[in-house]
Amino acid sequence: MCGIVGIVGKPEAEKVILTGLERLEYRGYDSAGLFVADGTSDHLVKAQGRIKNLEDKVTPKVTGTIGIGHTRWATHGRPSEANAHPHTSESGRLVLVHNGVIENFDTLQHTYLEGDHLKGQTDTEIAVHLIESLMNRQKLDTLTAFKKALKLIQGSYAFALVDKKDPETIYVAKNKSPLLIGLGDGFNVICSDALAMLDQTHHFVEIEDGELVTVTADQIHIEDQKGNLVYRESYEAQLDLTDIEKGTYPYYMLKEIDEQPTVMRRLIQEYRNPDGSIAIDEKLLEKITQSDRIYIIACGTSNHAGWAAKHLFEKLTKIPVEIHLSSEFGYNMPLLSQHPFFIYLSQSGETADSRQVLVRTNQLGYPALTITNVAGSTLSREADYTLLLHAGPEIAVASTKAYTSQIAVMAILAEAVGLAKQQLAAADFAIFQELSIVATAMESLISEKAALSQLTEDYLGTTRNAFYIGRGNDYYVSMEAALKLKEISYIQAEGFAAGELKHGTIALIEEGTPVIGIITDATTGSHTRGNLQEVTSRGAKTLVIASEDLAKVGDQILLPVVHPLLTSLLAVVPTQLLAYFATLQRGYDVDKPRNLAKSVTVE
Ligand code: F6R
Repeated sequence: MCGIVGIVGKPEAEKVILTGLERLEYRGYDSAGLFVADGTSDHLVKAQGRIKNLEDKVTPKVTGTIGIGHTRWATHGRPSEANAHPHTSESGRLVLVHNGVIENFDTLQHTYLEGDHLKGQTDTEIAVHLIESLMNRQKLDTLTAFKKALKLIQGSYAFALVDKKDPETIYVAKNKSPLLIGLGDGFNVICSDALAMLDQTHHFVEIEDGELVTVTADQIHIEDQKGNLVYRESYEAQLDLTDIEKGTYPYYMLKEIDEQPTVMRRLIQEYRNPDGSIAIDEKLLEKITQSDRIYIIACGTSNHAGWAAKHLFEKLTKIPVEIHLSSEFGYNMPLLSQHPFFIYLSQSGETADSRQVLVRTNQLGYPALTITNVAGSTLSREADYTLLLHAGPEIAVASTKAYTSQIAVMAILAEAVGLAKQQLAAADFAIFQELSIVATAMESLISEKAALSQLTEDYLGTTRNAFYIGRGNDYYVSMEAALKLKEISYIQAEGFAAGELKHGTIALIEEGTPVIGIITDATTGSHTRGNLQEVTSRGAKTLVIASEDLAKVGDQILLPVVHPLLTSLLAVVPTQLLAYFATLQRGYDVDKPRNLAKSVTVE
């Protein structure tokens, strides 16, 4: 989704901004722009489409010592050069970039901007016109007008504002959208994601909602909503530039699929104490053991990871678990149990749909844990507890290693809770040993790429639609497998409970429709096979992914045997590769599917 970068106090600011914008490309965007100035000249350049289009327009004279840049994922107004950020005020003096959504833009326009000439349809343009209108009407300086405007604006925002008459300062404000200040030597930077500025600094200062920051080359000045000066320590980002490079891989998605065994082993290292016990905060375990129901709140792939972890969590802890879509739960909250405990699953830790639920459950006083890949992310800061995925940055829009690490962390947590509740004895389920077996099994699956590429061509080569079916955990993996396939290859795919097909959806099966069955559970495997027979009789082309111990002659993809509670970690791997190869074979960009954003910061 939208990204912001900026720098003050460094020559050739445009180069830093373009590199930063490239690093934000993975988040998804449809246009980009930058503004640079140096006290004698200033330049505003925007382009629709890829950063490359913007780079092509940045001629040698486009240079400065201060600048702000933006990648836009359209919300208000279609993707176009006019709607790309930065936006300028009526006179052109103020320049603004913005992430988020201004909910009352209509009212602001009608109340304050009568007679202004807007060039596009964005809410951001209204914000920058509003600031200048307040400066003119009330004879205010830029900072005071910005503060007044913030009081009038309702919605989510990360703003970066430059006044051409003071090209040595970036004014920054934040509410609900992420924004960081990076500290340099003789310069400072701003960014919506630390990854964008890692080549400039590893030292960042977090900004909290409602704060306003004045950033110059040698100072940052943070004020809270009441105008009080805030002092906050910086932190060092534990990220390495090599983590975000593709290396020899053609696509990040393939690199991230291949990293999954390493991530499983890293989780063992991170969560195992030297004596073999589980390294999870006792207070967190106490809170969970006191609860009578777990509510997992998440979107998309993270929601599917919640489903995949439900059964194992219930089995090991004897606490009922409900899985909810964040966007539904927040506004249609079900009747809760007496002592609920909330778990927010979010790779990015920034997903607005999940965050709005966390804000509400915090208001209601319920304890919450965020399981995320990003330390210091909004959901992590706002929950009582955090467990990290340790998966390394996930750059491809289609989530792969975050899904498996979410399930693995849930399994580690479930064992710790089970032991704390004395529902389990240490010998019953040795999670670290089991994860090590999973890592080796994943390695053997990802070494089968040539065979999987061929199966993709044979089964998904020309189809417009496809089904994944399974029961229980295999159904939950089917949901994720279908999402992966449709989001990057654009094949219309559905993950279905195998037994439910005959109650309606089987009407869609035609001659040649691909139906992929997942079978890892001895109690339901024969039923799923029966359902595969039903679709075969109606012309479907069936492909079976089965655990080796349940396999039958003719099954095309065999999964090494792992602990029955952890089969999802393996079954998903070939489905990730099928999605990858289907996309490659159709000639689409695997890492940047159309319309999608990596970090979804609007509701
Ligand atoms: C799909 C995908 C999305 C995310 C969803 C939630 O491949 O990545 O469905 O899982 O947008 O994002 P997070 O986990 O960052 O909250």
